[in-house]
Order: sequence, then structure tokens, then C-alpha cells
Amino acid sequence: MIYYFSATGNSKHVAERIAEALNDQAQSIETASTDIILTDNEPLGFVTPTNWNELPVFVREFIQKTDIRLAQNNYVFCVATYGFLQGFVCEDARRELRKKGIGMNAGFSVKMPDNWTPMFDLSDPLKVQQQVDAAEPQIDSVIAMIRQRVQGNKSKDWMPYFLRVFTDPLLTYERQTKFFAADKNLCIGCGLCARKCPVQAIEMQETAKTETNKLGKTPVWTAERCALCLGCLHRCPKFAINYNNKTQSHGQYQHAKYYKGKS
Ligand SMILES: Cc1cc2nc3c(=O)[nH]c(=O)nc-3n(C[C@H](O)[C@H](O)[C@H](O)COP(=O)(O)O)c2cc1C
Ligand code: SF4
Ligand code: SF4
Repeated sequence: MIYYFSATGNSKHVAERIAEALNDQAQSIETASTDIILTDNEPLGFVTPTNWNELPVFVREFIQKTDIRLAQNNYVFCVATYGFLQGFVCEDARRELRKKGIGMNAGFSVKMPDNWTPMFDLSDPLKVQQQVDAAEPQIDSVIAMIRQRVQGNKSKDWMPYFLRVFTDPLLTYERQTKFFAADKNLCIGCGLCARKCPVQAIEMQETAKTETNKLGKTPVWTAERCALCLGCLHRCPKFAINYNNKTQSHGQYQHAKYYKGKS
């Protein structure tokens, strides 16, 4: 089974490509059982975005709470999708799995559009498509290595694990929900952001009904449990959500395979 977490479709696409090539299944960890029982020779893959060079909190917690029972000759791997620097995602996954007594055989990475739009500009569809296209041969190469059951960390742009002492506080700082805001002139109160949030960090609260917001609902980032996947920002049908006033001019992103267009 190939497990994935994906806010904007990059990791989902990679997981689906690998699953198809191995005649296996891709399963989102958002809806997965926390009981994994493998059969002999079955691969176990985790495909995940990179968050401040680390394994995203949501994926870490999934591994921690999941009971994984291996059989004979399983092949356990991690694939980090990333946009700029992959850092130590696969090393993080390896350490989490090791705590459960599970050895990870290999780590890989695939460079894709960087959905951290507080910093990266994804407003040019042509450039974004070029980045999406450039990922395909990388995915082919990862699939070939998985088929050969290659061992070791083969991920690109990795960083020494001790640097985590610097990136960890950054991630904690950026996770503060006070940075999120919905533009009252754009938000229609549809609640999609709240429904799709993987950690229920968004609550829809009553607000004045307006011509734009006929439902009179507005999202409020209540809990400090946001996993900072940016899914809410990128999926909003009106591009109403911004983060720290830095994202409005940098565009929204969803992998073309899953993007259903604006409403
Ligand atoms: C909070 C956050 C932090 C990120 N940090 C990094 C990073 O440190 N290095 C990097 O290369 N990409 C980083 N990214 C980019 C994503 O890892 C990348 O776009 C990934 O492919 C998104 O996967 P998804 O579409 O499956 O959600 C970050 C994205 C977010 C939202
Ligand atoms: S998805 Fe966008 S339009 Fe819908 S409630 Fe959330 S912020 Fe408003
Ligand atoms: S609030 Fe937005 S960024 Fe935070 S976890 Fe939910 S969907 Fe992801």
C-alpha cells in the first residue's frame, strides 16, 4: 500500500503513479485505517510533502498512532515531494518508523511546484506547468528504483539532520493561525476550507450577510493545531484566503490532474 498526505495534489499524484506502476493502491492518510497489516513482499510507501525541511506534523502523527504489522520481505520507503530544499523528510520518517521497530529501506524525493506561496510565486501557469512536467521523469526514476528495491537514502537536496534545530522553531512560528485571514470582499462563506481541513483547525462563524457572502458565514482559524499544509488557501474557490498578507500576488496552486477550475 502507498500512503500519502497531500494538500495540493503533488504527493497524491506521485503516490498514484507509484501505485499504478506496482499494481498497488494509493491511500490518503486522512481516511486511512490506523491498523496496517502487510502481506509477504508487499511494499509500504509513504509519500509526503516537505514542511520546513521536515516530515509534516500530520504525517508524523499518523505514523506514531498507526499499528504497522510487517510480514516477510516487505519494502518500506518514503518519497518526499518538495519545491526548493527537501532537507530531512525521509530521515525524519526513518526515525519515526524506527521508534516502532520498523526499518525503512529507502528514501526518495521528487521536485515539484513549491506550494509555500508566502515565499514562492506560482502565478504564472506556464512556469508551473513546466515544473509539473519536469517532475514526470523524476517519478519514473523513483519507480525504477522502487522496482529494484534499492536501499538507502536516495533523496536529493537532503540536509544534515542536526540543522533541524534551526528549522523546527521556524515551523512552530509559522504554524500560528493568526497569520490566516479571509478577505471579506471575496469570501462567499461556502465552508469548503473548514470541511477539507485535515485537522479541523477552521470553524465557520456567523457574520453579517452581504451581497458577496449571502450565507453569512466566515472562517476563523480557531485552534493552534493547524498543520500548515496551506490546503485551505490553495483550494478556496474564490482565492479569498491569505497568509500573513504575503500570498495574494503569488497565485493558487493545485496539481493540474486534480484541479477542477474556479467557481
Ligand atoms: C508549510 C510549508 C512548508 C514547506 N517547506 C518546504 C521546504 O522546507 N522545502 C521545500 O522544498 N518545499 C517546501 N514546501 C513545499 C511543499 O513541500 C511542496 O510544494 C509539496 O510538493 C506539496 O505537496 P502536496 O501538493 O502534496 O501538498 C513547503 C510547503 C508548505 C505548505
Ligand atoms: S473556502 Fe474560501 S470562500 Fe469558502 S468559506 Fe472558505 S474562505 Fe470563504
Ligand atoms: S487550517 Fe488550512 S493550512 Fe492549517 S491544516 Fe487546515 S487546511 Fe491546512
